[in-house]
Amino acid sequence: TKDWNGIDQITLRNPRGASARVSLHGGQVISWRNDQGEELLFTSSKAIFKPPKAMRGGIQICFPQFGNCGSLEQHGFARNKIWTIEDNPPPLHPNDAKGKAYIDLLFKPSEEDLKCWPHSFEFRLRVSLATDGNLAMISRIRNINGKPLNFSFAYHTYFSASDISEVRIEGLETLDYLDNLCQRERFTEQGDAVTFESEVDRVYLSSPSVIAVLDHEKKRTFVMRKEGLPDVVVWNPWEKKSKLMVDFGDEEYKQMLCVDGVVIERPIPLRPGEEWTGRLELSVVPSSYCSEP
Ligand code: BG6
Repeated sequence: TKDWNGIDQITLRNPRGASARVSLHGGQVISWRNDQGEELLFTSSKAIFKPPKAMRGGIQICFPQFGNCGSLEQHGFARNKIWTIEDNPPPLHPNDAKGKAYIDLLFKPSEEDLKCWPHSFEFRLRVSLATDGNLAMISRIRNINGKPLNFSFAYHTYFSASDISEVRIEGLETLDYLDNLCQRERFTEQGDAVTFESEVDRVYLSSPSVIAVLDHEKKRTFVMRKEGLPDVVVWNPWEKKSKLMVDFGDEEYKQMLCVDGVVIERPIPLRPGEEWTGRLELSVVPSSYCSEP
């Protein structure tokens, strides 16, 4: 199907009724629903579904940088560009297709992109939905240039929440983090979980490969499994920042949080011909909040 701007969107479905929708604009996952048809990702009611900006919500692919260093645009250009469908990508492991509905996308830089970032690459993205409703994303980035390149990367993931004050993240305790609200000063997480009482914008460093986002009110837990993505960004704009974003409702910070599998602290170096792979898998399980002390 096409969106209002004529940009293709692909819907993946599993036999139990779960679905995921992917847009060729940015290769962005814009919806992920469970077997009951309940939406699991956040999309702002004020989101703008129009290039050249990425839609506020879903899962954005941030490449070749996450953040806003240097002359590159914030979070890189990949999320703002039109991707294509690739019918016969280089093979992945058979388990990456088995029992799954999936789509393969490709992004190559245009002349304009090369002016901002003079490196040729091929970015392949597979988005899949398994029979159990799990959503997986596999990114393969290949340097097809004659010179080395470095990049940072994020699966910038907007989870839907019932009430942000009832949400906790487990798996980040005791880790060091860079606080974007204090000039990236380095701190160590002291809490037994991350909770939200004000604006949060942090990069947790060298995290474990499994992170859990517990939504007490909804009695459900998102489980994030990741490979090749050592860091985790946690973001909630809270009250003041929400009002400054044109494509975000003033009160919507209560119904969302971003927890992103990322590579930030140590950008990935790719020599000519080399390829990097980064995987993210999301599942949702009922929780009785049993981990509460
Ligand atoms: C977060 C960053 O992940 O993304 C924030 O840590 C940033 O600093 C936010 O404000 C949203 O960015 P953007 O470019 O999508 O408005």
